[in-house]
Amino acid sequence: MSQPPALDVLVIGSGIAGLFYSLSVADHARVGIITKRSAAESATSRAQGGIAAVLSHEDSFEEHVQDTLTAGAGLCNEKVVRHVVERGPKMIEALVALGVDFDAQEQKSNSADHLELGREGGHGRRRIVHHRDATGRELERVLLARVAAHPNIRLFEDHCAVDVITTEKAGIPGGHRAIGAYVLDTRTGKILKILSKITLLASGGNGKVYLYTTNPDISTGDGMAMGYRAGAAIRNMEFMQFHPTCLYHPLAKSFLISEAVRGEGAILRTRDGHAFMSGYHDMADLAPRDIVARAIDTELKRSGDDSVFLDATHWSPKFALNRFPTISERCLSFGIDITKDQIPVVPAAHYCCGGVHTDIHGESSLLNLFAVGEVAHTGLHGANRLASNSLLEALVFAAAASEATQKRLPSIDVPGAQVPDWEEGEATESDEAVIITQNWDEIRHFMWNYVGIVRSDKRLERARRRIELLQDEITQYYWDFKLTTDLIELRNLAVVARLIIDAAQKRQESRGLHYTVDFPQRNDLYQKDTLLCRSDG
Ligand code: SIN
Repeated sequence: MSQPPALDVLVIGSGIAGLFYSLSVADHARVGIITKRSAAESATSRAQGGIAAVLSHEDSFEEHVQDTLTAGAGLCNEKVVRHVVERGPKMIEALVALGVDFDAQEQKSNSADHLELGREGGHGRRRIVHHRDATGRELERVLLARVAAHPNIRLFEDHCAVDVITTEKAGIPGGHRAIGAYVLDTRTGKILKILSKITLLASGGNGKVYLYTTNPDISTGDGMAMGYRAGAAIRNMEFMQFHPTCLYHPLAKSFLISEAVRGEGAILRTRDGHAFMSGYHDMADLAPRDIVARAIDTELKRSGDDSVFLDATHWSPKFALNRFPTISERCLSFGIDITKDQIPVVPAAHYCCGGVHTDIHGESSLLNLFAVGEVAHTGLHGANRLASNSLLEALVFAAAASEATQKRLPSIDVPGAQVPDWEEGEATESDEAVIITQNWDEIRHFMWNYVGIVRSDKRLERARRRIELLQDEITQYYWDFKLTTDLIELRNLAVVARLIIDAAQKRQESRGLHYTVDFPQRNDLYQKDTLLCRSDG
């Protein structure tokens, strides 16, 4: 982008949240979407499972609500849960109308009432709408094509947001509010000032803060860190969801084996063949994710093995290839025929249930700054997200944020000339990129070892001391050298690591995804969200 265009809305991120919001609002606003690499590179693209929605006559909103509340372990906002669940069927209809090709029941059309429904952990019914095992890729395909065709939307690839611009930072009176973002054009190295009436964070999650993750490389918590620095309230960062089944193979970087595989009857076993999940929960292999991930962690610590195994060898090759083509083919590329061989799996960081806190319209505590998708904390997931509820959440809140935006736009003026350009100061080109990789690796290692599936006071304290040191070093480096995407991501990664550690230290109980050996029980005193806010803001 050479000349920043005048925008009504700046959207940061090109996953389902940013794209669906943009399409919903674009008939009424000039929209710019920035994305730090190519547009299709998003966590959405990797979503295998699907979207949870009540579409079967055997199912009910109440059952979906109750399953969500049970997984959320006392911390869901029930009003939000009902709001989201009740809008599920309408959202699926909207996607079908846009052209998303969900799998239909045999010989039926793919209208919303004829869709094939999968099952995943924690769901008492089949309610996962999917496109084989590549639902996210299909969503991105359709939404990106629609975005490209819309005259009011401009998409800027290779543009990495640095910080939200606020009136406070820009020295503009009249109340603290968001007015756009500073953005690095990674092709020119220039930092642009993009002003907008509404700024929407849709930048996804922060899985890269952990050594092992199912997330793509772009998931560095950028929106959470930017929201925090801008002064927006952040909630519940301690609730990091570890997906129980990531393929364990030296060459298979972060490849997810969908929970839908267990939904279709695959069984977790130890190396000696023992099906261990029934010893941990009544729902056995389909227990909520926190239970399954901790059970695997316990089994691995007990046996000293590198992985457990997912057994789908009772499937026919036809079923495997038809329902799970991506997983079948990827495993086969590593010499694993899933209809003959058990799949070696380990848990990996997958989804952050906390984030920038928003109201029911998707607006953060900072006026005109919205957050939708994994970057946000809406109150839906509580202490543990129910599988496939997050794409639904992104759709419902994107639609709500679009409605709120349309109402708000006529009353917003954006200050123009008074907003300062990015101040580069004396920054020079860095000749020591090794500092970035060293700090990045250090954070990911200690987060995995000290702030992972099982935590303790001692480990959290060790992690806190390390992140404090690293943050000092990174801040120094940040102002001395010219910005690159790597440096921006490192600074953001350090902020989100710090937020996770701080939140985990505050929660002196075990609940949902947060488990500490020092407080192994739930404690009613902590039946509340963990709130973090920038202390100088
Ligand atoms: C999966 O397919 O297991 C992932 C679904 C989700 O995380 O919601």
